[in-house]
Amino acid sequence: MIRFAREEDLEGILEIYNDAILNTTAVYAYKPHTLENRKQWFLKKKQEGYPIIVYDDSSIAGFATYGPFRAWPAYKYTIEHSVYVHKDYRNKGVGKLLVQEIIRLANKQNYATLVAGIDSTNVASIKLHEGLGFTFAGTIRKAGFKFGKWLDLSFYQKELVGPKMPTEE
Ligand SMILES: CC(C)(COP(=O)(O)OP(=O)(O)OC[C@H]1O[C@@H](n2cnc3c(N)ncnc32)[C@H](O)[C@@H]1OP(=O)(O)O)[C@@H](O)C(=O)NCCC(=O)NCCS
Repeated sequence: MIRFAREEDLEGILEIYNDAILNTTAVYAYKPHTLENRKQWFLKKKQEGYPIIVYDDSSIAGFATYGPFRAWPAYKYTIEHSVYVHKDYRNKGVGKLLVQEIIRLANKQNYATLVAGIDSTNVASIKLHEGLGFTFAGTIRKAGFKFGKWLDLSFYQKELVGPKMPTEE
Protein backbone atom coordinates (compact mmCIF):
# COMPACT_ATOMS: atom_id res chain seq x y z
CA MET A 1 0.00 0.00 0.00
CA ILE A 2 1.00 3.59 -0.53
CA ARG A 3 1.23 5.91 2.47
CA PHE A 4 3.18 8.93 3.69
CA ALA A 5 6.72 8.11 4.83
CA ARG A 6 7.57 7.97 8.51
CA GLU A 7 10.97 8.43 10.12
CA GLU A 8 11.33 4.67 10.66
CA ASP A 9 11.11 4.16 6.86
CA LEU A 10 14.35 6.06 6.28
CA GLU A 11 16.61 3.00 6.42
CA GLY A 12 14.58 1.30 3.69
CA ILE A 13 14.54 4.51 1.65
CA LEU A 14 18.30 4.91 2.13
CA GLU A 15 18.97 1.37 0.90
CA ILE A 16 17.00 1.98 -2.31
CA TYR A 17 18.56 5.40 -2.86
CA ASN A 18 22.14 4.24 -2.28
CA ASP A 19 21.67 1.32 -4.63
CA ALA A 20 20.57 3.80 -7.31
CA ILE A 21 23.57 6.08 -6.56
CA LEU A 22 26.10 3.27 -6.72
CA ASN A 23 24.69 1.27 -9.65
CA THR A 24 22.69 3.59 -11.93
CA THR A 25 22.74 6.99 -13.58
CA ALA A 26 19.25 7.70 -12.23
CA VAL A 27 20.87 9.89 -9.53
CA TYR A 28 23.65 12.26 -10.45
CA ALA A 29 25.56 11.59 -7.21
CA TYR A 30 28.76 9.63 -6.66
CA LYS A 31 28.84 8.72 -2.98
CA PRO A 32 26.27 6.89 -0.88
CA HIS A 33 24.23 9.03 1.48
CA THR A 34 24.07 8.51 5.23
CA LEU A 35 21.05 7.93 7.44
CA GLU A 36 21.71 11.32 9.03
CA ASN A 37 21.53 12.92 5.60
CA ARG A 38 18.17 11.20 4.94
CA LYS A 39 16.89 12.45 8.32
CA GLN A 40 17.75 16.06 7.36
CA TRP A 41 16.05 15.52 3.99
CA PHE A 42 12.94 14.11 5.68
CA LEU A 43 12.67 17.03 8.13
CA LYS A 44 13.23 19.64 5.40
CA LYS A 45 10.50 18.14 3.20
CA LYS A 46 8.13 18.12 6.18
CA GLN A 47 8.90 21.74 7.10
CA GLU A 48 8.42 22.89 3.51
CA GLY A 49 5.17 20.94 3.00
CA TYR A 50 6.41 18.53 0.32
CA PRO A 51 5.25 14.90 0.60
CA ILE A 52 7.40 11.78 0.72
CA ILE A 53 5.39 8.65 -0.03
CA VAL A 54 6.37 4.99 0.21
CA TYR A 55 5.04 1.73 -1.17
CA ASP A 56 4.92 -0.44 1.93
CA ASP A 57 4.96 -4.20 1.33
CA SER A 58 6.18 -5.17 4.84
CA SER A 59 9.44 -3.61 3.67
CA ILE A 60 9.85 -0.40 1.69
CA ALA A 61 9.41 -1.38 -1.97
CA GLY A 62 9.72 2.14 -3.34
CA PHE A 63 9.38 5.82 -2.58
CA ALA A 64 8.64 9.08 -4.33
CA THR A 65 8.70 12.74 -3.47
CA TYR A 66 8.63 16.21 -4.97
CA GLY A 67 10.17 19.57 -4.31
CA PRO A 68 10.82 22.91 -5.97
CA PHE A 69 11.84 22.90 -9.62
CA ARG A 70 13.90 26.08 -9.31
CA ALA A 71 14.31 28.49 -6.41
CA TRP A 72 12.95 31.76 -7.85
CA PRO A 73 9.44 32.80 -6.73
CA ALA A 74 7.76 32.77 -10.14
CA TYR A 75 8.43 29.02 -10.37
CA LYS A 76 6.12 28.48 -7.42
CA TYR A 77 3.51 26.48 -9.36
CA THR A 78 6.10 24.06 -10.80
CA ILE A 79 7.57 21.10 -8.95
CA GLU A 80 10.01 18.32 -9.81
CA HIS A 81 9.47 14.80 -8.52
CA SER A 82 11.58 11.68 -8.17
CA VAL A 83 10.69 8.00 -7.85
CA TYR A 84 12.76 4.98 -6.86
CA VAL A 85 11.75 1.34 -6.69
CA HIS A 86 13.73 -1.39 -4.91
CA LYS A 87 15.52 -3.58 -7.45
CA ASP A 88 13.53 -6.66 -6.36
CA TYR A 89 10.22 -4.86 -7.02
CA ARG A 90 10.91 -3.29 -10.42
CA ASN A 91 8.61 -3.81 -13.39
CA LYS A 92 5.68 -4.88 -11.19
CA GLY A 93 3.70 -1.65 -11.33
CA VAL A 94 5.04 -0.08 -8.12
CA GLY A 95 6.65 2.94 -9.84
CA LYS A 96 3.47 3.65 -11.76
CA LEU A 97 1.34 3.60 -8.60
CA LEU A 98 3.79 5.92 -6.83
CA VAL A 99 3.84 8.48 -9.66
CA GLN A 100 0.03 8.33 -9.95
CA GLU A 101 -0.15 9.24 -6.26
CA ILE A 102 2.42 12.03 -6.76
CA ILE A 103 0.18 13.45 -9.52
CA ARG A 104 -2.86 13.26 -7.25
CA LEU A 105 -1.09 15.02 -4.37
CA ALA A 106 0.40 17.68 -6.65
CA ASN A 107 -3.05 18.44 -8.06
CA LYS A 108 -4.43 18.65 -4.54
CA GLN A 109 -1.74 21.22 -3.69
CA ASN A 110 -2.71 23.26 -6.80
CA TYR A 111 0.54 22.94 -8.68
CA ALA A 112 0.34 23.64 -12.41
CA THR A 113 3.33 21.74 -13.83
CA LEU A 114 5.09 18.55 -12.78
CA VAL A 115 8.61 17.96 -14.09
CA ALA A 116 10.70 14.77 -14.27
CA GLY A 117 14.42 15.07 -15.02
CA ILE A 118 15.36 11.67 -16.44
CA ASP A 119 18.76 10.43 -17.57
CA SER A 120 18.33 9.95 -21.32
CA THR A 121 19.39 6.27 -21.11
CA ASN A 122 16.77 5.43 -18.45
CA VAL A 123 14.28 3.56 -20.65
CA ALA A 124 12.22 2.25 -17.72
CA SER A 125 11.61 5.73 -16.31
CA ILE A 126 10.88 7.23 -19.74
CA LYS A 127 8.30 4.48 -20.44
CA LEU A 128 6.76 4.93 -17.01
CA HIS A 129 6.38 8.70 -17.42
CA GLU A 130 5.19 8.61 -21.03
CA GLY A 131 2.57 6.06 -19.98
CA LEU A 132 1.25 8.55 -17.42
CA GLY A 133 0.92 11.37 -19.92
CA PHE A 134 4.24 13.17 -19.47
CA THR A 135 5.58 14.75 -22.65
CA PHE A 136 9.18 15.28 -23.71
CA ALA A 137 10.34 18.84 -23.05
CA GLY A 138 13.99 18.76 -24.09
CA THR A 139 17.41 17.36 -23.30
CA ILE A 140 20.38 19.05 -21.65
CA ARG A 141 23.36 17.36 -23.22
CA LYS A 142 26.42 16.79 -21.03
CA ALA A 143 24.39 17.72 -17.95
CA GLY A 144 26.38 15.29 -15.82
CA PHE A 145 29.45 13.06 -15.73
CA LYS A 146 29.39 9.65 -14.05
CA PHE A 147 30.93 6.19 -14.57
CA GLY A 148 33.44 7.81 -16.97
CA LYS A 149 30.76 9.12 -19.34
CA TRP A 150 28.89 12.33 -20.09
CA LEU A 151 25.24 12.12 -19.15
CA ASP A 152 22.36 13.77 -21.00
CA LEU A 153 19.37 14.79 -18.89
CA SER A 154 15.94 14.72 -20.53
CA PHE A 155 13.05 16.67 -19.10
CA TYR A 156 9.47 15.42 -19.22
CA GLN A 157 6.51 17.44 -18.06
CA LYS A 158 2.88 16.95 -17.18
CA GLU A 159 0.33 19.70 -17.03
CA LEU A 160 -1.69 19.61 -13.81
CA VAL A 161 -5.00 21.22 -12.96
CA GLY A 162 -3.25 24.24 -11.42
CA PRO A 163 -4.60 27.10 -9.33
CA LYS A 164 -7.92 28.75 -10.25
CA MET A 165 -6.45 32.20 -9.61
CA PRO A 166 -2.64 32.18 -9.85
CA THR A 167 -1.04 35.04 -7.93
CA GLU A 168 2.34 36.76 -7.94
CA GLU A 169 2.71 36.93 -4.17
C1 LIG B 1 12.22 3.74 -13.22
C2 LIG B 1 11.48 2.97 -12.13
C3 LIG B 1 11.03 3.95 -11.04
C4 LIG B 1 10.22 2.34 -12.75
O1 LIG B 1 9.45 1.74 -11.74
P1 LIG B 1 8.86 0.27 -11.92
O2 LIG B 1 8.05 -0.04 -10.72
O3 LIG B 1 9.95 -0.66 -12.25
O4 LIG B 1 7.92 0.49 -13.19
P2 LIG B 1 6.47 -0.11 -13.42
O5 LIG B 1 6.48 -1.57 -13.17
O6 LIG B 1 5.48 0.71 -12.66
O7 LIG B 1 6.29 0.11 -14.97
C5 LIG B 1 5.71 1.28 -15.53
C6 LIG B 1 5.74 1.17 -17.03
O8 LIG B 1 7.11 1.20 -17.48
C7 LIG B 1 7.42 0.01 -18.21
N1 LIG B 1 8.76 -0.45 -17.82
C8 LIG B 1 9.20 -0.68 -16.56
N2 LIG B 1 10.48 -1.08 -16.59
C9 LIG B 1 10.83 -1.13 -17.90
C10 LIG B 1 12.03 -1.45 -18.57
N3 LIG B 1 13.13 -1.84 -17.89
N4 LIG B 1 12.06 -1.35 -19.92
C11 LIG B 1 10.96 -0.95 -20.61
N5 LIG B 1 9.80 -0.62 -20.02
C12 LIG B 1 9.73 -0.70 -18.68
C13 LIG B 1 6.39 -1.01 -17.80
O9 LIG B 1 6.17 -1.96 -18.79
C14 LIG B 1 5.17 -0.16 -17.55
O10 LIG B 1 4.52 0.12 -18.76
P3 LIG B 1 2.92 -0.07 -18.87
O11 LIG B 1 2.32 0.93 -17.91
O12 LIG B 1 2.67 0.26 -20.30
O13 LIG B 1 2.67 -1.47 -18.48
C15 LIG B 1 12.35 1.83 -11.51
O14 LIG B 1 12.82 1.02 -12.55
C16 LIG B 1 13.53 2.33 -10.71
O15 LIG B 1 13.39 2.63 -9.52
N6 LIG B 1 14.71 2.44 -11.34
C17 LIG B 1 15.92 2.91 -10.68
C18 LIG B 1 15.76 4.34 -10.20
C19 LIG B 1 15.22 5.25 -11.28
O16 LIG B 1 15.58 5.12 -12.45
N7 LIG B 1 14.35 6.20 -10.88
C20 LIG B 1 13.77 7.17 -11.78
C21 LIG B 1 14.63 8.37 -11.83
S1 LIG B 1 13.99 9.57 -13.01
